[in-house]
This record gives sequence, C-alpha cells and structure tokens, in this order.
Amino acid sequence: MVQALDYEYFKKKIKDRVGLDLSSYKEQQMKRRIHQLMQRYGTEDYSAFLGLLDREPAILHHFTDYLTINTSQFFRDSHIYQAIESTLLPALLRKGEQLKIWSAGCSIGAEPYSLAMLLLEMAPGGSWRILATDFDVNILAKAREGRFHNNLLSLVPERLKRRYFTERDGYFYLSEQVKKCVTFSQQNLLTDRYEPGCQLILCRNVFIYFTADAQELLISSFAQSLKQEGYFIIGCSEMISNPERFGLQKVQPAIYRKR
Ligand SMILES: C[S@@+](CC[C@H](N)C(=O)[O-])C[C@H]1O[C@@H](n2cnc3c(N)ncnc32)[C@H](O)[C@@H]1O
Repeated sequence: MVQALDYEYFKKKIKDRVGLDLSSYKEQQMKRRIHQLMQRYGTEDYSAFLGLLDREPAILHHFTDYLTINTSQFFRDSHIYQAIESTLLPALLRKGEQLKIWSAGCSIGAEPYSLAMLLLEMAPGGSWRILATDFDVNILAKAREGRFHNNLLSLVPERLKRRYFTERDGYFYLSEQVKKCVTFSQQNLLTDRYEPGCQLILCRNVFIYFTADAQELLISSFAQSLKQEGYFIIGCSEMISNPERFGLQKVQPAIYRKR
C-alpha cells in the first residue's frame, strides 16, 4: 500500500537523484503517474520503488521520461502556426533586427523544427536563430537525431514535408538544413537562467503540469525574457489570468504580446 506520508520523503529523494522538484508539479496528477509506474514494476511503496530506481538505471531513465510527458507533434495546433506565419513572423521580421526565438519545453524538437521550416521559407539567409530547451536529456538526444515516425508529421504541409524530410526504413529524416537552424540545450525551467532578449517565446503544454505558484513564476520569468512587442505563446488548453500583471496583452487565445 502506498503511504501518503511518504510522498514528501519520495519527492526529496527524487530531487536529489534527478534534479527535478516534484513540489512544483500538480500533486494529484504527478502521484497518479508515479503510482501507475510503481504498479507496472510491481513495487508496493515509495521506498521499494526508490530502491529499484537506484539499482536499475534503465528504470530510472523510464521514470524520468514518464514524469516529463514528452507528447508533441510537428505543427501542433495548426491555427497557431497559421498566426505565426501570417502575422507574428512578418511583424517581427519587418523590424529588421536579429531575431531570437526560444522554444521552452521543446520535447522531441517538433516545435522548434516547425518554426525553422517556416523561417527557411519566409526568410532564407535571414538573421534569425532558434534556441530549444528541455529538462529531459534523453528527449533532447532524440530531437538532435531528427528521425521521426510518420504519425508525428500528419500536420506538416505537404510541400514542406517533401522539401525537408527524406523517408527511409519507415522513418522520416529531417534535412541537415533544418537541423542546423536549431540549437538544443538542457534547461530546468524551475531553477535555471532564462534566455534574455527574445522576440518570440513558445512554452506550450508545459505549464499544465505545474502548480499555480510555479506557473506564475515561469510566466513572470518569460515576460522578462521577452523584448518589447515580442510574443509569448502557450498551449491551447492553457491560459494566463490577468496577463497585464506581467506586462502582457492577449492577442488571441494562447498568444500574448509584451507591451
Ligand atoms: C508535453 S511536452 C510539450 C512539447 C511541445 N512544447 C509541444 O507543445 O508540443 C512537455 C515538455 O516539457 C518538459 N518539461 C517538464 N518539466 C520541465 C522543466 N522543469 N524544465 C524544462 N522542461 C520541462 C518535458 O520534458 C516535456 O518534453
């Protein structure tokens, strides 16, 4: 039987081992996932599970993957990419500044790579760069590899799929031209430094797992990282209440501009 009291101890141990403070994540959701995994590995309580994580690096690896929930897709929420392509990027490119774009919680890289394809079409040879960060080093390795299942590509416009992917052995390989547009690095949004001077930041489907307090902290840090008139995009099931507190103005659902 899982003892409720032991969760505090478990969180402390996980913070020491993995570097992730589970206190900043929604407790019920997090516990549900941890208990599912414990059941799957036939462990009855937190101490037995911690013992298993210590002994089996592969299970620790699976645990980190499972906790961080890496679900993603190229051009996820097409209407957001339509707004990026038709309104946000043209407005930012018109300024003629070097463009710094940050995909925070980038998972397999589908988000930053989708942006790179749009920019290669709109401003080839232009002065822009895309940073992509995630806490999970395993997922970052997959992102850098650039090999994807077809089901992640269902929303990629056909002309972009033909131009930037090569099909081989049942996988789709992203071209080097797109891969080299994105710089990946590991970052914990709860503890690490935020990239300053960005004109466009996307942090989509990441907040959803955090407590309200942690969300506020993140939003405030993102707002500080944005340049005036820069855009901040969150997931379609997420929202920022009273965005003015952070100097942000809602442009349309999920898209905010720094005033
Ligand atoms: C559901 S994915 C979102 C991927 C992409 N942004 C999208 O919307 O398709 C959430 C990502 O957030 C990352 N993540 C979770 N906690 C994090 C943290 N504290 N710091 C940085 N990334 C984190 C996870 O590793 C995961 O890859």
